[in-house]
Amino acid sequence: MRTFRIAPSILSADFARLSQEVSDVIAAGADIIHFDVMDNHYVPNLTMGPMFCEAIRPHSSAPIDVHLMVKPVDALAAAFAKAGADIITFHPEGSEHIDRTLGLIKDAGCKAGLVFNPATPLSYLDHVMDKLDMILIMSVNPGFGGQSFIPHALEKIKLARQRIDAHTAKHGGEIWLEVDGGIKVDNIAQVAAAGADTFVAGSAIYGQKDYKAVIDAMRAELARAQG
Ligand code: DX5
Ligand code: ZN
Repeated sequence: MRTFRIAPSILSADFARLSQEVSDVIAAGADIIHFDVMDNHYVPNLTMGPMFCEAIRPHSSAPIDVHLMVKPVDALAAAFAKAGADIITFHPEGSEHIDRTLGLIKDAGCKAGLVFNPATPLSYLDHVMDKLDMILIMSVNPGFGGQSFIPHALEKIKLARQRIDAHTAKHGGEIWLEVDGGIKVDNIAQVAAAGADTFVAGSAIYGQKDYKAVIDAMRAELARAQG
């Protein structure tokens, strides 16, 4: 039995009421707060820096999952660790020294993960599996909420699941498989069946009035996928 986690992305929240939006989604059943950091350099959009993370930290009883869409990565990763992040993920293209960046995040006491854009090969995993707590497969090109799920991501999720299972069978440990982009009530079961355990959803949750109704519906779909 896989444990499933739902991670609302606050990118689609009302930024004027951010702390309330964080508390509300946790009260509605969120497991993780997904925090999208964009720098208008690695991706063509600009969002929140470490001060936002520090500001919402007291309002979140759930882990904060910082998704860094930035280049370079290291200084910001350290700043987010200091600002209270629990998990920090980054794109391999954003770092000149992937192994060093992973080490820096772990040394700061956070869980570390690598993020794969739709066209980024999984071969970046070849020599770093032992340093990973999470693999994040993008099912949209990063930069914006509200885009459509790219079906090709399902094949990649399956391949990532095979790599994780092979690694943990041999070496133990736990690596979460997160998927980000275009996840809705009507496709979450398919994404779970491909092998994901952690589901980011921005517009699907924050775009509706009743967050609990959406999260409950997602959990019902996940239970169905579990069989
Ligand atoms: C996209 C971000 C996502 C985004 C997902 O670059 O990384 O986390 O918020 O939003 P939806 O769920 O609306 O696709
Ligand atoms: Zn994200």
